[in-house]
Amino acid sequence: MPLGPSIRKLIGPSLAPPIGRAYRNLFVNLDKVARALTGVLPPGAHVLDIGGGDGEPLNHLLELRDDLRVTTIDPGPQVGQWIAPRFAERVTCLPGTGIEEYLAQGRTDPDAVVIADVMHHIPVASRPAFFASLKTLWDRNPDLRIIVKDVEPGSPRALLGLWSDRYITGDRGVSLVSRRQLVALMEAAIGPLRHEETPLHQWDSPNYAIAFFR
Ligand SMILES: C[S@@+](CC[C@H](N)C(=O)[O-])C[C@H]1O[C@@H](n2cnc3c(N)ncnc32)[C@H](O)[C@@H]1O
Repeated sequence: MPLGPSIRKLIGPSLAPPIGRAYRNLFVNLDKVARALTGVLPPGAHVLDIGGGDGEPLNHLLELRDDLRVTTIDPGPQVGQWIAPRFAERVTCLPGTGIEEYLAQGRTDPDAVVIADVMHHIPVASRPAFFASLKTLWDRNPDLRIIVKDVEPGSPRALLGLWSDRYITGDRGVSLVSRRQLVALMEAAIGPLRHEETPLHQWDSPNYAIAFFR
């Protein structure tokens, strides 16, 4: 088992969230991420959070925006387990669900998609299929906006995060996607898009968030 899950198991369910939060603070400020996202999420949106993980970032977002509803999906066996109980009725958690499964289930189309710290975990060879599914979502709802939060490579903090993903989380296939590469990949897969960079990279480099619109 990789080091990260073993440590979570060892420290137990009550200590894992606060220790996890302190560790995550080394790499990203979730308040700043939430503030950046609120600037590009439409009012009253149903947000599809792809690769939601433990759901901790959603606590920050839902605190700021009481008009949002979220469906959080993850191919892993758990998703959203750290979402605060006070937000539970605004969040639907679908573990064992990737974007292809979500599309196949005939669920409501979202108004916005958030993909936070997921892109660099998708193996390079699997990225075209992932982008093709995003295109399907866009074809169904042309007003959809997709917001990608990721990490710009090339700084010591980015390198530390990458090593943490490789050696603590245990994902040996991680590779960071720069802002420039992301825009090129999205446009190559989906066609011409408008995009707007949020202020996250100024507030909390090397983290960035870019919103894409058709
Ligand atoms: C670093 S975690 C990020 C979790 C959360 N979005 C956050 O910001 O804290 C990466 C997540 O991406 C998920 N993931 C990996 N490959 C994926 C894929 N192809 N589609 C959707 N989620 C994926 C993993 O299961 C994991 O929960």
